[in-house]
Amino acid sequence: MITLPKGTKDVLPENSYKWQFVERVARETAKTFNAKEIRTPTFEHTEVFSRGVGETTDIVNKEMYTFLDKGGRSITLKPEGTAGVVRSFVESGLYAGALPLKTYYLTPCFRYERPQAGRLREFHQFGVEFFGADDAGFDAEVILLAKTFLDNLGVKNITLYINSIGCKECRKAYHQALKEYLQANYDDLCDLCKDRFDKNPMRILDCKNENCKKITENAPSILDYLCSDCKAHFEKVKSLLNAAGVEYKIDAKIVRGLDYYVRTVFEFVSENIGAQGTVLGGGRYDGLVEQFGGGKIPGIGFAAGIERLLLLLESAESIEKQDVLTLFVAPMGDEARAKAFEIVSAIRKKGIIADTDYMNRGIKAQFKYADKLGAKYVAVIGSDELSRGIVKLKNMTSGEEKEVCADELSEHLK
Ligand code: HAM
Repeated sequence: MITLPKGTKDVLPENSYKWQFVERVARETAKTFNAKEIRTPTFEHTEVFSRGVGETTDIVNKEMYTFLDKGGRSITLKPEGTAGVVRSFVESGLYAGALPLKTYYLTPCFRYERPQAGRLREFHQFGVEFFGADDAGFDAEVILLAKTFLDNLGVKNITLYINSIGCKECRKAYHQALKEYLQANYDDLCDLCKDRFDKNPMRILDCKNENCKKITENAPSILDYLCSDCKAHFEKVKSLLNAAGVEYKIDAKIVRGLDYYVRTVFEFVSENIGAQGTVLGGGRYDGLVEQFGGGKIPGIGFAAGIERLLLLLESAESIEKQDVLTLFVAPMGDEARAKAFEIVSAIRKKGIIADTDYMNRGIKAQFKYADKLGAKYVAVIGSDELSRGIVKLKNMTSGEEKEVCADELSEHLK
């Protein structure tokens, strides 16, 4: 038997309705915020991510699916959605059009990580990228969209953590203070953090290694190093969230694993799905569009992992039930079979879910099959029913049976 590659999953027919539910809620929520869908390719030139996501990140250093195509170009399967959207925003000239521009996407992503519950090598994101405004209202709007999405899904017990990681200017002073603090314990840092020490010391703050966590416990806080503009921006974001009734906690250790962030960063974290509890993460990336050659256009967005959301929803049992089969037409004999085909065709035109037998099964076996499918009604047609232009309609929940005119069948299905 050929099996799935490690870190990938099938979505089987009995579960796909859960995905459709999350996707539908994502689209509907984005729509109410006036965001439009953007679709970018599943693979890009590697440079899009190495430049966009950042050379010092785990994603670029260790996790990308990168290969040379037959033309010798370095290609990478998208490890996240933002960089490709920014590439497209610049390449297709959207940055020169009406701003702000609000986009959203649903996309597969690929990261070569160690698989565990909630961590896959192919996973899926619902994300939004908003371009054009540096006002704190834009930050609050994006966070509110994330919160509304989670509320619309019925997600409970989830905490929003926010932080500001400042701009390049505030970070200079902060990096120095952080390095001075960490210097004393440099030898006890994990190898990865030793590497981060010079390249990107802030990332040491969200290392999962217990030793590193202990070392950074009393580290200086970025919030004490914000310049006056960044401070005022963060204050405004907080007051807008307060005014909108969005509850949050401030966590100065949230730095996010991607290099493009400035100022506001945020995560929605659940305690109920194990170690991989960050369901949704995002932040502001004001320099990214410029980095791709599109001018000084600010941006902010987030992405939620659909697999992690589904883990949460399964424990909350709040997913809408699958579309149910309303009518199963059970014919007896060839002539009745032709009539059954005609009936299901007519019924489906009314938007009703209908099915019939294609296995030449006997009537008992057809009932058994219809029951397994969860059919609400079964319509039986034998030679007698055929000659009288009727069907025998059975309500599978109540067991009630009645004779119904074949042409009026749809009126009897509730
Ligand atoms: P991220 O935090 O790397 O951010 O990923 C966002 C979400 O994708 C995570 O919170 C998680 O739910 C899901 N996720 C990430 N890696 C995996 C994995 N290996 N398996 C399953 N789920 C995973 C970004 O990707 C940014 N592009 C978000 C963003 C958009 N920031 C601004 N705009």
